Amino acid sequence: MRKSHVRLITFFILLLSATTNSLAAGDKEKGKSKAIHCQVCHGKEGFSYNPLYPVLAGQHAEYIIKQLKDFKAGRRLNPIMNEIAKPLTAQDMEDLAAYFNSRRR
Ligand code: HEC
Repeated sequence: MRKSHVRLITFFILLLSATTNSLAAGDKEKGKSKAIHCQVCHGKEGFSYNPLYPVLAGQHAEYIIKQLKDFKAGRRLNPIMNEIAKPLTAQDMEDLAAYFNSRRR
């Protein structure tokens, strides 16, 4: 194998590990403190009793992440949630999703 190929392959392996490491799996403890603002509407621990606000407790993490990404990108439109999702990072979404998913009756 040519030396330049080895370098190229090494570069891609490093790039791959850098991108996969940058987003850690959701941390529900961190999510708990990030979720304080959400509970005003979505209820304590995500158990909403108001039909205007969806229940987040026990929801699939992938679903919560997808909705937050869509609100942030403007693919799902809601004036409240579009503003709320705007400052969230991908890591915030992972943590929030892990936290709300872990809340079960
Ligand atoms: C001021 C009230 C309010 C706050 C605060 C709020 N939300 Fe929401 N959220 C809503 C409303 C209203 C909807 C329903 C939007 C719709 O009908 O499309 C919603 C929808 C959602 C959904 C989609 C649920 C589903 O079943 O499709 C997710 C996920 C969500 N919110 C997460 C959060 C998170 C995480 C936070 C805190 C960072 C938060 N929300 C804070 C009002 C709020």
